[in-house]
Amino acid sequence: MTANQIRTAYLNFFRSQGHTLVPSAPLVPENDPTTLFTGSGMQPIVPYLLGAPHPEGTRIADSQKCFRSQDIEEVGDNRHTTFFEMLGNWSFGDYFKQEQIAWMWHFLTEELKLDPKRLHFTCFVGNDDLGIPKDTESAELWQKLFRDKGLEVGIGENSEVEGIGEGQHIFYYNEKKNWWSRAGVPGNMPVGEPGGPDTEMFWDFGSEKELHEVSAWKDEPCHVNCDCGRFMEIGNNVFMEYKRIEGGFEKLAQQNVDFGGGLERLMAAKMDNPDIFVGDIFDALRSHLETLSSKVYSSEGEYTYAFRVVMDHMRASVFLIADGVLPSNTDQGYVLRRLLRRAVRYADVLGIDSGNLSSCVLPLVTTYRESYPVLEIKQNDIAGVINEEENKFRETLSKGMRELEKRITDKTLSGKDAFDLFTTYGFPLEMTQEIALEKGIAVDELEYRDEFEKHKELSRTASAGKFKGGLADNSAKVTAFHTATHLMLAALRKELGEDVHQAGSNITEERTRFDFTYGQKVSREILDKIELYVNAAMEAGATVGTTVMLKDEAKANGVEGSFWEKYPDNVTVYQVVGSDGTIYSQELCGGPHVTNTEEIKAFGRFRITKEEASSAGVRRIKAIFE
Ligand code: SER
Repeated sequence: MTANQIRTAYLNFFRSQGHTLVPSAPLVPENDPTTLFTGSGMQPIVPYLLGAPHPEGTRIADSQKCFRSQDIEEVGDNRHTTFFEMLGNWSFGDYFKQEQIAWMWHFLTEELKLDPKRLHFTCFVGNDDLGIPKDTESAELWQKLFRDKGLEVGIGENSEVEGIGEGQHIFYYNEKKNWWSRAGVPGNMPVGEPGGPDTEMFWDFGSEKELHEVSAWKDEPCHVNCDCGRFMEIGNNVFMEYKRIEGGFEKLAQQNVDFGGGLERLMAAKMDNPDIFVGDIFDALRSHLETLSSKVYSSEGEYTYAFRVVMDHMRASVFLIADGVLPSNTDQGYVLRRLLRRAVRYADVLGIDSGNLSSCVLPLVTTYRESYPVLEIKQNDIAGVINEEENKFRETLSKGMRELEKRITDKTLSGKDAFDLFTTYGFPLEMTQEIALEKGIAVDELEYRDEFEKHKELSRTASAGKFKGGLADNSAKVTAFHTATHLMLAALRKELGEDVHQAGSNITEERTRFDFTYGQKVSREILDKIELYVNAAMEAGATVGTTVMLKDEAKANGVEGSFWEKYPDNVTVYQVVGSDGTIYSQELCGGPHVTNTEEIKAFGRFRITKEEASSAGVRRIKAIFE
C-alpha cells in the first residue's frame, strides 16, 4: 500500500462515515499573524472547535500540508521532516469517543490491515486536582476491540516505571503525555483555551527491540513513550471538551474530536520500517538523487544524513514555493532561503553537480500530482525560483566559505563576522553555526543579534529619511520645495476651506507632487491665487522655525496636520512667520526646511503646472520652480 493509497483510504473511509472532505489550507496561514506556517492539521480548525459553525457541517476530514521550521535541525534521523502531511478528522459537537475509537480501529486494522498485535494505545490517567477523571471509557473501548479480534489484552497502569507487562497493549499516562492543547499541559493553558485528554496510537517496530538495549534509555524500562525508537506514535485522538477557567476547567459547550495522524508515519508502520525516507513517498525523489550522485541511499551509511536533508528540504521548498513563498531575508522567505541553501551544501556533499537542484521538482510532481495538482501547474515557476536561488548562492558560496575559514579564530566566530557572512555572502546564521560547529567552533549569537538590530535600526532610519515627508533626499532644492509645499497647503486651506488636508506628498528635484483632500476640480483662478501666496511669502523673507507644543494646544491654535493620532503628546510644529508677525504656515512636520523663505527664490518662481483627480475625494497638484 503506497502513501497515496493510505491517504485515499483514510479520506474515503471518513467520507463514508458522513464527513465532508475539505482541501488542505495553505502552508502560510491566512489571517493568522501569530505564526509563520501551518504546523498541524488542527491549526486552521481552531475557530470551529471553539464553537464557530463550520460551513461544511459538524463532520469534516482532510489531509493538511504542514511545515515545522523548528524541526529543521532534527532532520537527518529516520523520522523527522520539516514538511509532512497530517490526516485529520473532526467532530464539532457531533460524535465522540465511541465512534472515533471504533473508526480508528477499523481504519488501522481493516483499511491499512495493520497487525493488531503490534498496535498500542495510551489513555489519560486523570487528575483529581484538575477535576478531570481517568479516561477508562477509551481504555475499555480499545480493550473490547482487541477482544472482538480474539485478543485478550492487559492495561498497564504505570509502564513508565514498570515497563510493559505481559500482554499489555493499553497504557495510562498523565497530562504530560495524554493531554492536548495548543499551550501544552493544563498548567500552561491560558484562561479560555480549549483542550482535553487524548488517546494516542503507537506502532511497535518489534525488530527494533534491541535498539533499546544500546540506547541512552537502556537503564530504564522501555515503554511506548520511550525515545529509543522501538515505538512510533502514528496518531492522536483529542477529546476536546474542556476549557480553562480561573482555578480549573469547565466543559465546553460542545464535545469535540480532533484527530491528527502523520501520513509519513502511518506509511512507516504499514511498511514496518521506521525509516520514512525509504517509503514510497520519497521513491521518485530518492532515485533521482541516487542517479545524480551515483550513490545508493541506505538507512545507515556515510551519506544517509545528506540524502535525508536534501530529500526533506527539496520537498518542503517545492511545497512552500507552490504556496507563494519566495526566498528573502525575512519571515517565511528566510526559512525557505535557509532550506534551499542548506540543500545546496548537502547536494555538494553527495557530489551532485551544481545547477541540478531544480531538477528535483519533476520527481516530486510525479509523486504528488494527483493530490496536489498545483505542483504540476506551477512546476516551471517553482524550478525557476530554485534555480535562481541556487545560482545566487553559488556565486558567493566558495568565497563565503573561504571568508568563514579566515574569520574563525580560536574557539569562536564573532557575531559581527557571522552577520557579515549573512549580508555579504548570504549565509543564514544557522548555516554558519552549523559549519562552525562541524569544526567545534561556537558563534557569538548574542553579538549577531545585536548587529542585526543595529542594522535594522540603520535601515529603518535610512528609509524613514528617504520617505520623511515624501522627500527624495535632503538636497537644497528638495528642501526648498518642501517649504514651498507647506506654504501651498496653507494657501489651499485659505482658499478652499479647513477641510483640506494633506493626503500624500512626493518631492524630487524636479517637482513637488502633492495630494490633498478635496472633492472637486480647483479652478485656474484659485490656482493662480495659491501661486501668488507662495511667491509672496518667498518675497517676504519669512523665518522658518520650530516650536514644540502640546498636541491639544497645537490643534487649538489651528496648526495643520494629518494623522494626529500617530503623534506623541508633544509635537514639533514648523512655523513660517514674516517680520511683521504674519503666520504664513504652521504645520506638524519632521523637517527639513529652509531657514528663511528667501532661500527658495534661488530656484525660481513657484508655479503650479497641473491639477487633477488622484482618487475619490483626493486631488493632486504638480508644481515646479521656473
Ligand atoms: N491537535 C492534535 C495534534 O496536533 C491532533 O490533531 O496532534
